[in-house]
Amino acid sequence: MMRANFLLGSLISLASYGLGASPDTSSFSAADTIQRDIAIIGGGSSGTHAAIKFKDAGKTVVVIEPQAQLGGHVKTFTTSSGVRVNYGPSNFQNSTAVTDWFSRFNIPMVQYQQPGTGDKYADFSTGKELADGTLPHPDFGAYLQVLAKFPYLEDFAHLPNPIPDDLLLPFGQFVEKYKIQSVAYTLAQFATSNGNVFEQPALYILKVADIPYVQGIINGAVLAPASYDAQSVFQKAQDFLGSDALVSSTVSSATRSNSGVSLVVNTPKGKKLIKANKLLVTAPPKVDNLKPLGLDSRESGIFSKFQNKAFYTVLLNNTGLEEGFRYYNAKPDAGNTYNVPTLPVLQFIWATKDVDTYWAWYSCVNTLPDETVKANIIKDFKTLAPGSNPQIIAYSNAGPSGVGVSADEIKKGFYTDLFKLQGYKNTWYTGSAWISDHSAGLWKWVLGMY
Ligand SMILES: Cc1cc2nc3c(=O)[nH]c(=O)nc-3n(C[C@H](O)[C@H](O)[C@H](O)COP(=O)(O)OP(=O)(O)OC[C@H]3O[C@@H](n4cnc5c(N)ncnc54)[C@H](O)[C@@H]3O)c2cc1C
Ligand SMILES: *[C@@H]1O[C@H](CO)[C@@H](O)[C@H](O)[C@H]1NC(C)=O
Ligand SMILES: *[C@@H]1O[C@H](CO)[C@@H](O)[C@H](O)[C@H]1NC(C)=O
Repeated sequence: MMRANFLLGSLISLASYGLGASPDTSSFSAADTIQRDIAIIGGGSSGTHAAIKFKDAGKTVVVIEPQAQLGGHVKTFTTSSGVRVNYGPSNFQNSTAVTDWFSRFNIPMVQYQQPGTGDKYADFSTGKELADGTLPHPDFGAYLQVLAKFPYLEDFAHLPNPIPDDLLLPFGQFVEKYKIQSVAYTLAQFATSNGNVFEQPALYILKVADIPYVQGIINGAVLAPASYDAQSVFQKAQDFLGSDALVSSTVSSATRSNSGVSLVVNTPKGKKLIKANKLLVTAPPKVDNLKPLGLDSRESGIFSKFQNKAFYTVLLNNTGLEEGFRYYNAKPDAGNTYNVPTLPVLQFIWATKDVDTYWAWYSCVNTLPDETVKANIIKDFKTLAPGSNPQIIAYSNAGPSGVGVSADEIKKGFYTDLFKLQGYKNTWYTGSAWISDHSAGLWKWVLGMY
C-alpha cells in the first residue's frame, strides 16, 4: 500500500476513538457545538471528495469552506446565452478514482474534447503571429522515456531521499541535459502557474507534466462530465452534505493534540465549536493560511519554507478574436530559445463551449493587484484584436499556486520532514503542495484506503 494511502487509512480507522482535546467549551451551548469524527478545512476538490468518501464509509464529517460554494478552483460560469463554461479544472484523467467520483453522483462522463478548432501562436505584446515551424513538434515519446527514470513523481510522499540531483537542476538546465528541447514550450504551458518554468527545480515541472497526465493527453484518454459542467459534481456533493458543509465559514482558532481537535469557526449563523477526532487540512499550507490552527514551532518551521506563485483565470466576451481559436503567447525575443515569455504574462487564451466567450490564463511570480491583472489582460486582447472592446465576465485569483520550496531545501530533505507531519497532532494534509496538482492524483490518494 502506498504510504500516503496508509496515512489516510489510519485517519479513518482511528476516527472513532474518544475525544481528548480540552477546548474552552464554556461559552458554547450544546446547539452551537458540532461533534464529528473528521473535520475538513477547505471544501475544494480534495476536501469535498474526502468528505463524501468518509461519509460513505460511515464516518461523521464537517467541512469548513470560506467560499459560498464547494469546489475550490473548480468554477463554472453561465454565459448570457445559457452555456456553462468552465474556468477551472475541466478535464480529468481516465482513472478509477475519477470515474468513481462522478458516478457516485450519477454524472455521465464522455471523452473530453478541448473546445476550439485551431491554434494560433502569437506574441501577445505585438499581436504578431509566429512563422509556421518556429516551434518544434513536441516529441512526447522522448519525454516519457525521461520521466520513466523518475517513476515516483505522482505523489510527493513517494519521493526518494536523497532526491536525484538532476531533479534539483533548474528546469532549463534539465531540458538541455536530457535533450527534451522539443517539449519545452508545451511543458511551459502545462506547468502554467508555476512561475518562470526554466528557473524552477525540474522536480516541480516534471511533477505537473507527470506520466499519467502526458499519456492522457497523447492518447486522448481524458474525461469530462457529459454536460462539460465541472462544478455540477460539487453542487451535488454540497446538496448531499447539507449542514455538514459549513460554507462562507472560516476557522478562527484551534486546539490540536494527539487525542483530538477543537476548532472555533465563524459561520453565517454565528460562532460554532467543532470537536473532532481528526483534522484534514486541504488549504494551501502557507503559514498565513494555517495561522488559525495555532502552529507550533516544528510546524511553522516547516511550513514557513513554502513559497508560492500567483495565477489568475478569467473569462471574457466581446473580444473580436477569431471564432473557435486557441491563442498561445509565444515570444521570439523571450530571452530563452523556446519562445516562452517571462512572467507576468497572459500565457494563453482558449475558445470555450460558448463561441462568444474566451478563457484567459494569466501567470505571475508574485501576486499583483486585481486591477493590474485585469488591465494587462485587456491590453493583450486589444493588441490581438485591434479596435475590440473585450469585457471581463468572470475572474478568479487561483493563487497561491506553485507552492514549493527551493532546490536547496529539497536537497536537505524538506519532503521527508514535511511528510512526518502527517498525523502529527491528529492533523493530516492533502492538496497540490502535498500530493499532486491533478484531481485524479488527489482523489486516488483518498480512494486508496477502500
Ligand atoms: C484554472 C485551473 C485549471 C485547472 N484544470 C485542471 C484540470 O482540468 N484537471 C485537473 O485535474 N486539475 C486541474 N487543475 C488543478 C486543480 O487545482 C486541482 O486538480 C484541484 O482543484 C486541487 O484541489 P484542492 O482541493 O487541492 O484545491 P482547491 O480546489 O483550491 O481547494 C482548496 C479549498 O480550500 C479553501 N481554502 C483556501 N484557503 C483556506 C483557508 N485559509 N482556510 C480554509 N479554507 C481555505 C479554498 O477556498 C478552496 O475551496 C486546475 C487548476 C486551475 C487553477
Ligand atoms: C458579455 O457577457 C455579459 C455577462 O454575461 C453579458 O451581459 C453581455 O451581454 C455579453 N456581451 C456580449 C457581446 O456577448
Ligand atoms: C477509459 O478507460 C477505460 C478502461 O480502461 C476504457 O474502456 C475507456 O475506453 C477509456 N476512455 C477513454 C476516453 O479513453
